[in-house]
Amino acid sequence: MPSVRLENTWSVGPGSAAPTKTSRLRHTGRVTRFDADFADRLDAWEPDLHATLERVYGAAAAQEVTDRLVAIARAAHAARPDDLRELDERRLREPDWFQRPSMVGYAAYADRFAGTLQDVGRRTSYLRDLGVGYLHLMPLLTPRPGPNDGGYAVMDYRSVRPDLGTLDDLRALTTTLRGEGISLCLDLVLNHVAREHEWAASARAGDPDKRAYFHVHDDREVPDAYEATLPEVFPDFAPGNFTWDDELAGWVWTTFNYYQWDVNWANPAVLCEYADIILGLANVGVEVFRLDAIAFIWKRMGTACQNQPEVHELTRALRTVARIAAPAVLFKAEAIVGPAELPAYLGVGRHAGRVSDLAYHNGLMVQIWSMLASGDVRLASHALQQVPQPPSTTAWATYARCHDDIGWAISDEDAQAVGIDPFAHRRFLSDWYSGAHPGSWARGLVFQQNEATGDRRISGTLASLAGLEAGDPHAAARILWAHAVILGFGGLPVIWMGDELGLMNDQGWADDPAHAGDNRWVHRPPMPWDAAAGEDPYGITAGLRHLLEVRSGLPHLHAASPTEIWDPRDPGVLLVVRRHPLGPLLAASNATGEEAWVDADVLHWLGLHTDGLLDAINGTAPDLHDGAVRLPPYATVWLYDGSR
Ligand code: GLC
Repeated sequence: MPSVRLENTWSVGPGSAAPTKTSRLRHTGRVTRFDADFADRLDAWEPDLHATLERVYGAAAAQEVTDRLVAIARAAHAARPDDLRELDERRLREPDWFQRPSMVGYAAYADRFAGTLQDVGRRTSYLRDLGVGYLHLMPLLTPRPGPNDGGYAVMDYRSVRPDLGTLDDLRALTTTLRGEGISLCLDLVLNHVAREHEWAASARAGDPDKRAYFHVHDDREVPDAYEATLPEVFPDFAPGNFTWDDELAGWVWTTFNYYQWDVNWANPAVLCEYADIILGLANVGVEVFRLDAIAFIWKRMGTACQNQPEVHELTRALRTVARIAAPAVLFKAEAIVGPAELPAYLGVGRHAGRVSDLAYHNGLMVQIWSMLASGDVRLASHALQQVPQPPSTTAWATYARCHDDIGWAISDEDAQAVGIDPFAHRRFLSDWYSGAHPGSWARGLVFQQNEATGDRRISGTLASLAGLEAGDPHAAARILWAHAVILGFGGLPVIWMGDELGLMNDQGWADDPAHAGDNRWVHRPPMPWDAAAGEDPYGITAGLRHLLEVRSGLPHLHAASPTEIWDPRDPGVLLVVRRHPLGPLLAASNATGEEAWVDADVLHWLGLHTDGLLDAINGTAPDLHDGAVRLPPYATVWLYDGSR
């Protein structure tokens, strides 16, 4: 086993020196209440950490790695500013803060949203006004120069991209946001580092310890054996999963681009490095870590090298360390994987409640677009029924669009179960959303055409995919429909920047030579502040604000309440039930451009056939005909018994 060594290079800037009371107490050798809490948490969690590490690295190594991680946690806790220690206490007292119906997320590139980090701080009133309590800023740590996959090729985790500001600016921003009730989420890219990262540079310079941070092979024998079962993430511009590097004189594992070197998590030194990075950033005020491409971090010959059991063990180890040193910290898994693999990221079996607190509900996002294109909810209902209830302490991050392309993660089994040819349906969706299908109102672009599998993923903004660019009269209703689904499903809904304005594809996306090869930039336009301040021509902003406001007052939409997907009666209407002690809430969404119905039997089975039946969205009784509820095109109702 390579030795576990690392230098703690976090500098404690002026703004983060622990306020005087604690420093004084520490200097006089007295134990503060925070230190006592740390000791309690250590007692409670260390055995779990040890057991987890034993499962990954074996009994012989587990103690040494545990000791190293505890030392990292201790040092980080000692350096943790008092305001963040108080936040720790608050979060422990109110652990459901991110599950509440009033919680809404927003995701943006700092520069495209506002400019520098200081400029982001000047835009908090816009976010608060929208009700945002969680802000995911896209990668902002120092990336490699040149192509860097939108910042996902990090050269230095301990500094900020110079054009955005400094670590002190980041600290100031988290403080400002926290003051406004907004938690900052940052990407933790932990599958790979940039070829220019100091670990990679040392490896290239011949340091054997750092070479062991990566998967390097002298010849093609092992890479070829892995390739036999490995898919390709970017078959168009980065085919294959290994890259020859002259300086290394070896083939290095590069799942994504040639300049993103996968790190070797089988080496415990790597785990220790990332634990230190997480806690350092947590001490700067980062509250949520988006675990980028987490599915890929463990490699196993003969598999697709995704979703391996060790992925969850390692997440658990990192989370346990964070719980000990900085319990306010949450993890959000970015695992864009098939529906069968997704639940494990929120914890199943012994990992329930012990891995990530949040995970992207990629399956729901894909089904939103599938429902809109086909006007049929039967596949979506079946597929969503297969996803088990997540642990009640966790939440799905629900979303309709993000900065990435849409890949049609629809399983063959789910499609076949409802009598659909999976291949033909995926082809239809790519045709529909690239605008190639006759009658399509969508204006997306094909991203990564995979000749081997026939897959074609799709780029495009929510508005352009929903028909706004094509001038379709139902476009605004579809945009609001997609948002109503993510807001009523259960979880923490995250709005992608500009979707609240109906922002369309960026026609100039390829003008920047660094972006020209990657059409995902078409759906990453800069924020048009003029439009944000101007009128709302399609009523999208007003409609979304209304939905957010209604949602925040509905306890049924707390993420801890279970979500049930009911078998559709009308094939055009998605039926989502939220169970709550106050009584059930039925979210019914018409995915078609025609009038549709919620059948009377649904209301009967839910005990909602009462005089007090209300639609929270309209604030009135629903439109009942013989006990059935009429839904206009693309309408959503949130029905509950208002008399209780
Ligand atoms: C994640 C990011 C994506 C990036 C990839 C590699 O999937 O969302 O944008 O290309 O990771 O880091």
